[in-house]
Amino acid sequence: MTQAIHENFTSLPTSELSASMAYKLLTGVVVPRPVAWITTLGQNGVVNVAPFSSYNYVCDTPPMLAVNIAGQDDGALKDTARNIRETGEFVVNVATRAVLDLMNASSALYPSHASEAEHLGIATLPGRLVKVPRVAISPVQMECRLAHIVPLGTGTNTLYIGEVVMFHLDPAVYDGNHVNSVAIDPIARLGGPFYAALGEILKRPRPTVPQIDP
Ligand SMILES: Cc1cc2nc3c(=O)[nH]c(=O)nc-3n(C[C@H](O)[C@H](O)[C@H](O)COP(=O)(O)O)c2cc1C
Repeated sequence: MTQAIHENFTSLPTSELSASMAYKLLTGVVVPRPVAWITTLGQNGVVNVAPFSSYNYVCDTPPMLAVNIAGQDDGALKDTARNIRETGEFVVNVATRAVLDLMNASSALYPSHASEAEHLGIATLPGRLVKVPRVAISPVQMECRLAHIVPLGTGTNTLYIGEVVMFHLDPAVYDGNHVNSVAIDPIARLGGPFYAALGEILKRPRPTVPQIDP
């Protein structure tokens, strides 16, 4: 394969970037991002639902997920962050193409006393090992207990790392041994208002150990 060599890159030292430009670059470049549709419990049992795409798995023994939650524009904690700190629990529900509009609607700035689940008609199922309910329509729900809180950078962003204490998998996406990722039909975030569904699936077995002479 011939490799085209580009030489006319736009090179941007981050010391000269505004925070909003850095955000734009990161969210346009780190794509596609899976979307954690997170449920938490607020005061008086208010069920909070909101999406987060600065998210991934970060450990398998024990299973751990990490989500980066920014502050509100006025510096206040988002409801999800406050609820996780107060209860030590959250549920990550996998966002699918079928719930794109509902998931997006749940990102609106609802007041803390209002439940997105109630206002948007998002049906829930009870948590088994945590008090936080799960989003019923999501084919995979992961009950988490807070393990670490890691403040990042200037303090605008904080990483919340949770240990998954229970997986709930719809039989349509799990046969008891394998997860059918295609059947999950996950939705992924791109930059700005853009999303992507799974495209062509490519298969490559892991390479064998290269034979390199000592
Ligand atoms: C697809 C999507 C992904 C998002 N990802 C993040 C994220 O990773 N971190 C974050 O702080 N906000 C993210 N947001 C914004 C939050 O969803 C939004 O601030 C929401 O109002 C927070 O709700 P809460 O106050 O109920 O926690 C995202 C929004 C959308 C639509």
